[in-house]
Amino acid sequence: MNADVTGEAKGGVDRKIMKVLAGESVWPPPVWIMRQAGRYLPEYREMRARAGGFLDMCYNPDFAVEVTLQPIRRFGFDAAIMFSDILVVPHSLGQNVWFVEGEGPRLDPIATTDDVARLGERDPHLHLEPVFETLRRLRRALAPETALLGFCGAPWTVASYMIAGKSTPDQAPARIAAYADPAFMRALIDRLVETSIDYLVAQVDAGADAVQIFESFASALSAPLFEPLSLDPIRRIVSGLKARRPQARVIVFLRGGGPNLARLVEAGFADAIALDWSLDLARTLPGIPAKLPTQGNLDPLALVAGGAALDAGIDAVLAATKGRPHIFNLGHGIVPQTPVTHVERLVERVRGS
Ligand code: CP3
Repeated sequence: MNADVTGEAKGGVDRKIMKVLAGESVWPPPVWIMRQAGRYLPEYREMRARAGGFLDMCYNPDFAVEVTLQPIRRFGFDAAIMFSDILVVPHSLGQNVWFVEGEGPRLDPIATTDDVARLGERDPHLHLEPVFETLRRLRRALAPETALLGFCGAPWTVASYMIAGKSTPDQAPARIAAYADPAFMRALIDRLVETSIDYLVAQVDAGADAVQIFESFASALSAPLFEPLSLDPIRRIVSGLKARRPQARVIVFLRGGGPNLARLVEAGFADAIALDWSLDLARTLPGIPAKLPTQGNLDPLALVAGGAALDAGIDAVLAATKGRPHIFNLGHGIVPQTPVTHVERLVERVRGS
């Protein structure tokens, strides 16, 4: 089984991003953009208008492959990230998930340990098979030098949606639950850890060269909650994945990690650390071992603004990371109002450096 996937993995040594993830400094650095498939692209908006619901798109390999490839064709990024969403995991566990146009995700909130027990048996293979089919087709469609990335949400970030039932400014419902009912929170996090390991193993088997774990709400965690709700669950996912697929490479993105970023670095289990846009590289990089790959961290709104601010922002990231194993990226997802010409400019400037 997976003979061709193994062959692909061998080919992966020529993928710039894989060289960086192995600790090599590559110049100019490889580049991709978080949320690179999406509404800032007219061809995405056109397909989106013809498709059904957003989740249906995620489970439709024809659609998902096409929108994943759109930014690769346009900009020639060094990595394709499969088109899906972090919320397919709660959906695969039987929680009702849907997206409201112009507003974002909605879920039927869960609140008790019994609710966790009622979540379905973990079987990502059944529900998430279209995601794996998307990856298999992508690996065949991509040029050998383009890396293929899978992903999942970190348990705390996913749990905060499962508890609040929607996006919230400060993840208050999940934070309150963490204090008021730690047994519920632990049960939910444990379920997400187990499911995420299976999910990422299957992504690697389907052809993902590396996976990124998105902890988008790290900023909401107080110091005592960071270890049990973020750091430890992510550690368990990475070690569970690597126990079964030692070749897997994992990028961990903490948004708003603040002082907790140092704890992630010290913990030493991430193959690469994705830095958010709020971090001053001049102060942050000296605290990261020179061989530990980093990714980021241009402000997505500098990419919206363009012009001199964009050029200066790009140059600052390049100057700060030169000589290190670094993957050029934004410090959070690209936003829908970003002009396509500014993305072209970014790629040209990074590659021309
Ligand atoms: O990077 C990529 O191009 C791959 C696809 C991807 C999507 N979501 C597609 C998407 C990835 C990696 C994600 C991750 C994701 N989803 C995160 C973590 C990253 C981050 O931004 O912090 C989170 C928190 C979500 C949850 C989510 N999905 C929200 C809050 C929303 C609504 C807000 C928004 O941006 O519209 C989504 C919807 C979503 N996921 C869209 C896309 C392209 C837009 C939906 C649409 O086209 O209507």
